[in-house]
Amino acid sequence: MFGDITTNPYHLETIIRSDLTKALRSLVPEMLEETQMAIPEYLKITASATSVVIPLFPTMVHLVARVGNRAMIGAPGCRNEKFLKKQVSVAEEVIPMSQVLNWFPGFLRPAVWKLFCVTVGAKDDAVKLVTPYVQSRIEYAQQDNPSTITDLLLRYAPEEDLLDVPKLAVRVVHLNMAAIHTSGIFTTHALFELARMPPAQVEEIRAEILAAIDSEGGVCNKAAVGKFYKLDSLLKEIGRFHSLFAVGSSRVTLREAVIADGTVLPQGSVVAFAPKPLHHNSQVYRDPYTFDPFRFAKLRTGDNAARDVQQSFTNLSNDYIVFGLGKHGCPGRFFAALMIKVIVSELLLSYELAFPEGASQMPKPFAFNIFTVPNPSAKLVFTRRK
Ligand code: HEM
Repeated sequence: MFGDITTNPYHLETIIRSDLTKALRSLVPEMLEETQMAIPEYLKITASATSVVIPLFPTMVHLVARVGNRAMIGAPGCRNEKFLKKQVSVAEEVIPMSQVLNWFPGFLRPAVWKLFCVTVGAKDDAVKLVTPYVQSRIEYAQQDNPSTITDLLLRYAPEEDLLDVPKLAVRVVHLNMAAIHTSGIFTTHALFELARMPPAQVEEIRAEILAAIDSEGGVCNKAAVGKFYKLDSLLKEIGRFHSLFAVGSSRVTLREAVIADGTVLPQGSVVAFAPKPLHHNSQVYRDPYTFDPFRFAKLRTGDNAARDVQQSFTNLSNDYIVFGLGKHGCPGRFFAALMIKVIVSELLLSYELAFPEGASQMPKPFAFNIFTVPNPSAKLVFTRRK
């Protein structure tokens, strides 16, 4: 579907090799600035009103696409609405298409996918639209201070790819695909949860955010966002409680393996993990069917740093597989967590959140195939705070 990406995944290496995590410090102010610019455009409150009702999930997916692309390709590319729309459509097409492709024999799949792309698919359009922005980053990438994820990508690109910019652009589209809907789902769930939470708990989260920013001299930087422990706990609980997928982290056994209960897996077996039973295991999580936004914040004692890190949203463990496991665990998770916190905290400090009158406070999620996403038509009311 995406050329030689799977056989030569150097764009994953750029992230895995911690360059992105190092760059996050400078990306936080940029993402915050983009969030502040984008919010009035996406949450249009007319001059005579103080509030607006919006379909939350699609709006948050677009906001994440814009803010994420400020980090991915920089400005002004991140504000190209035509590109953002196509980019969002890519994931919405690729996932169902990957199921459709399974109906065809292996040798026909590349042709079917190509036919789909040139007739209705958004992928080729997204690649075409982002290519000029990737091209414009090529000279920046050689500098000491890369300021976008594309700059990092270009640092690792082999010489021949630098001469074939659309090939590089495919990798940007691919990374965006991994980043946007996943982060949009968490942003949406967080705002729905905040809207139905007792006001006192919402105030606790706001107070902690303000105190963290205050502790950094009034600047919402990476260090400040790192102290949003209650918001971090809320996000982690969202991942535990609302499973994104029925099975994930699939792997193929390279040789025969015997698992703990004695089951023998022959070489070539496909194995996947089911998050829901793991995340609702009462031996690990007390009262697992109760949504407790502060579940993980309460487990932070402050006197054992290592134990506190284990409670963080981005920590991978056998009992928490929202970001997968092991070597292939999501390399973008630190970036995702920061971006979601920047967006949610900015919205929370600027608006009161509520469900429209008469609307369900538990909008039924939308399930397809192995995925579950927030209900795309459920709305939320944003009222400007005084
Ligand atoms: C809340 C947001 C996110 C969630 C829940 C999420 C979840 C996941 C999961 C479950 C996997 C599979 C891990 C495994 O197989 O064990 C994965 C892989 C991956 N994710 Fe994320 N992800 C998120 C955001 C991001 C972002 C923002 C990026 C990029 C900037 C990203 C890039 C990737 C990549 C490149 C892989 C493939 C890693 C590999 O195969 O080695 N993800 N993600």
